[in-house]
Amino acid sequence: MRKHIIVFLVASILVVGCMGDPGHGRGRGHGHDHDKGRGHGGLKMHYYLNRCGSVSVEKTVKDIVWSKVAADNTMAAKLLRLHYHDCFVRGCDASVLLDPTQNTTTEKTAGPNRSISGYEVIDEIKTKLEADCPETVSCADIVALAARDAVSFQFQREMWPVFTGRKDGRVSLASEAVTNLPSANANFTTLLTQFGDKGLNLNDLVILSGAHTIGVSRCALVSRRLYNFTGVGDADPSLDPEYAQTLRKLCPQPVNGGTILEMDPNSSLTFDSDYYRALNEHKGLFVSDAALLTNQQSASVVKVLENQLVFFAQFARSMVKMGAVEVLTGDQGEVRKSCRVVNGQ
Ligand code: HEM
Ligand SMILES: *[C@@H]1O[C@H](CO)[C@@H](O)[C@H](O)[C@H]1NC(C)=O
Ligand SMILES: *[C@@H]1O[C@H](CO)[C@@H](O)[C@H](O)[C@H]1NC(C)=O
Ligand SMILES: *[C@@H]1O[C@H](CO)[C@@H](O)[C@H](O)[C@H]1NC(C)=O
Ligand SMILES: *[C@@H]1O[C@H](CO)[C@@H](O)[C@H](O)[C@H]1NC(C)=O
Ligand SMILES: *[C@@H]1O[C@H](CO)[C@@H](O)[C@H](O)[C@H]1NC(C)=O
Repeated sequence: MRKHIIVFLVASILVVGCMGDPGHGRGRGHGHDHDKGRGHGGLKMHYYLNRCGSVSVEKTVKDIVWSKVAADNTMAAKLLRLHYHDCFVRGCDASVLLDPTQNTTTEKTAGPNRSISGYEVIDEIKTKLEADCPETVSCADIVALAARDAVSFQFQREMWPVFTGRKDGRVSLASEAVTNLPSANANFTTLLTQFGDKGLNLNDLVILSGAHTIGVSRCALVSRRLYNFTGVGDADPSLDPEYAQTLRKLCPQPVNGGTILEMDPNSSLTFDSDYYRALNEHKGLFVSDAALLTNQQSASVVKVLENQLVFFAQFARSMVKMGAVEVLTGDQGEVRKSCRVVNGQ
């Protein structure tokens, strides 16, 4: 009983800290405003309700995603990351899905694309929806719903509301993926700036980084921390020495950059608050993870988010916010027929 009151208070403090962002307060997150489509960049709850006859868009996405995640437990992380990469480059407009053409190198060809996948799952959902409700459901909404459903499979309930009505963009540039997506070596200042550019604040940065509670990376992105941090053959002093030793065993020299590493060593298949516990034990995998402890305010949020109930509530809030970054709605953009190519090509 008492624990729940404390959780509530702590969550409230975090939420009050975010009140500066109009339309994103949690109190407004479940009110009537959404039915009117206000806030969240013009997105609505159940936008497709009267647009696809008896077909439930949400159910179609959920059924396919759940079957894919049930068959492949690495798929949840992939679909979650896909949504993040979409939203951070030109907003959540499915630009991340466009295949390169003869003329353009699209986002997915850029360096940060590595290990991005899940495209086939999006294609499968799109094919089904085009058959059941043609030229209506955007790829950007499919990506947003798929990310939510992928994480939700573990809990068998919706972990956050997904507002819909996004349109798909017609532009995708590799160069923008490079400049907009934070690097694994980014420091706190850079991370805060890059999130700020997307209308996301310090709390969102710390909360959304908790996505690294699931999924994997590769030795290439951490070897510098293990062997040559300052360029003179030493390890990153902010990394727990025992954990550094464990990682050196997993990534022995000469480093095979492609070797897979779990980001949350205890439970990389489980969506939980262990990411923050690991951070506080100085076992965050990337410099960008460890960076969250280098700022006092950020470090205090990391501490609070060790509480799983608080983390889940806050993650839901920040995902709704991220899902509304620079979205195209109404007459903007288009509904692609194939998620990999813009219409008319
Ligand atoms: C704070 C800035 C962030 C940085 C610097 C960052 C960096 C990275 C890197 C370097 C990887 C490994 C990629 C690879 O091995 O090629 C990764 C994986 C991942 N990231 Fe992030 N990320 C950030 C924020 C986020 C956010 C906001 C989300 C989602 C809300 C997210 C979700 C994921 C997931 C789920 C994976 C695992 C993917 C898989 O297992 O396939 N990340 N991230
Ligand atoms: C691709 O480039 C060629 C030659 O520059 C141009 O004629 C064509 O219109 C371009 N196609 C698209 C889709 O931009
Ligand atoms: C991702 O980027 C790498 C390196 O820039 C490139 O070699 C690879 O083909 C890209 N992957 C996809 C799916 O485009
Ligand atoms: C953070 O990184 C940026 C870009 O690499 C750099 O310009 C800046 O000096 C760094 N800030 C701190 C506090 O180290
Ligand atoms: C270590 O880092 C320095 C500076 O970044 C670089 O010049 C050097 O080649 C690196 N050494 C190894 C063994 O990677
Ligand atoms: C990992 O599990 C061990 C043993 O259960 C526990 O002591 C440790 O705190 C956990 N670490 C993280 C980062 O969750």
